Parts: sequence; C-alpha cells; structure tokens
Amino acid sequence: MNAIILLGAPGSGKGTQAMRLAESLGLPHISTGVILRQAVADGTELGKVARDIMAAGSLVSDEIVLGIVEERIAAPDCGRGFILDGYPRNQAQARALGEVLSTLGATEWIANIDVPPEELTARVRGRRGTDGRQDDSEEAFRRRLEVYESESLPLLDYYGNRTVNISGLGSRDDVFGRLCAALPFAAAQLVTPKLVTPKLVTQ
Ligand code: AP5
Ligand code: MG
Repeated sequence: MNAIILLGAPGSGKGTQAMRLAESLGLPHISTGVILRQAVADGTELGKVARDIMAAGSLVSDEIVLGIVEERIAAPDCGRGFILDGYPRNQAQARALGEVLSTLGATEWIANIDVPPEELTARVRGRRGTDGRQDDSEEAFRRRLEVYESESLPLLDYYGNRTVNISGLGSRDDVFGRLCAALPFAAAQLVTPKLVTPKLVTQ
C-alpha cells in the first residue's frame, strides 16, 4: 500500500496536483478540506463544529481530522493506497498518521510543493468569488498563511530527508511533471512500457 502525502502552503496547488495524481495512478484523493467543506454544506454535526473554525482560517481539532482520515482510509478503495492532501498539518497529526500507516504497513511518499507567499496570494485572489470559499477572504487567507507557517511548515523538519521538495511555480503541467519525477512510486507507475513488436521470422 502506498500513501502519497502532499505538503504545501494554502494555494500551493496540493488539490490540483493530488487530483492529477489520483487520475493517473488510479488512487483515491483524500482532502480533509474537501471533506470538511462538504460537511459544512450538508449541515452535519461535523459541519456545524467545523464551519466557523474554517471560515476564520484556523485548524479544526486534531481529534476530528484524524477520525476523518482513519475512517476514509479504511474504505475498500484505499486498499492499494491513497493520496493525502491537507493532512497532516502539524506534528501531532503527523505522529498519529505515522502510527496508522505503520499499522497498515503502508509506504510513505512525501512531497512538499514550494510556492513563494506573493504567488500564493495572487492565486487565492484569482480564485476569490469563483468558487465561494469563505476562507479565501483577505483576512482568513492571512490567518491560513500564519497557521501554515507556525503549525505546518515545521513538518519539513519533522519529515527531514523523507520529503522531496519541488517547486510549485510554472504551469500545472510543469509542476505535475516535477512531482511525478520526484516520487519514485509515481514515476514507476507512470512509465509506459515500450511495446515490443514480435519479429516475424520468414525463411
Ligand atoms: P484546505 O482545503 O486543505 O485548504 P488549504 O491547505 O488552505 O489550501 P487550498 O485548498 O486553498 O490550496 P491548495 O494547496 O489545495 O491549492 P489549489 O490546488 O486549490 O483546508 C481548508 C481548511 O480546512 C483549513 O484552513 C482548516 O480549517 C481545515 N482543515 C483541512 N485539513 C485540516 C487538517 N488536517 N487539520 C485541521 N484542519 C484542517 O490551488 C490554488 C489555486 O491556484 C487554484 O485556483 C488553482 O487552480 C490555482 N493553481 C494551482 N496550480 C497552479 C499553477 N501551477 N499555476 C497557477 N495557478 C495554479
Ligand atoms: Mg486544497
């Protein structure tokens, strides 16, 4: 089982690239942000708890998100592996995930998508008003960046040389190419075997 973990700041392209990896590798894309936004839209108990926290750009409790992830990766479609986007986001989440993955005997592939703050801001400003994310407001986005720097950025030290760093600048295709090349599991899966045409021997 392969667990691909995408790290990166808000707006760095985790969702965009996770979706592409999911399509190319045939693995489910698990975004805690998407699951939480769906719960808010559905007005579930989880959604009611998460709504204001998310709108403010803060983190939902570790206990809640771990529960979401554990339940999701226990589903049958995760048997070969999965792509995590937005989890883990702090060291407590990373430790909890490490335990879950070691119980499952999963191999971790961790990539960090690196994008400078001015480009993150430009991307999220560009998205504002197009998909109605409440946490894309100027204030909430500023808070998301602060939370990223204080809580999530230290994950790069936590994972150390288990993480591959790739630049998230350039086109979506450029970033996808870098990501696949940097993740040996993805690179191996995406290599198209050369077709060998059998030679006809005529005598
Ligand atoms: P989440 O939904 O995970 O949001 P985020 O991490 O803040 O980041 P985004 O989804 O905005 O950005 P992204 O990196 O996915 O980039 P995207 O591909 O969209 O979390 C939301 C909230 O949920 C959190 O704040 C928290 O409250 C809660 N939450 C979630 N997980 C949690 C956890 N584990 N613990 C606690 N709370 C949690 O791209 C951004 C934009 O740029 C798009 O418009 C895209 O089209 C564009 N773009 C992408 N690639 C490129 C490119 N190469 N060039 C130009 N534009 C590009
Ligand atoms: Mg996202």
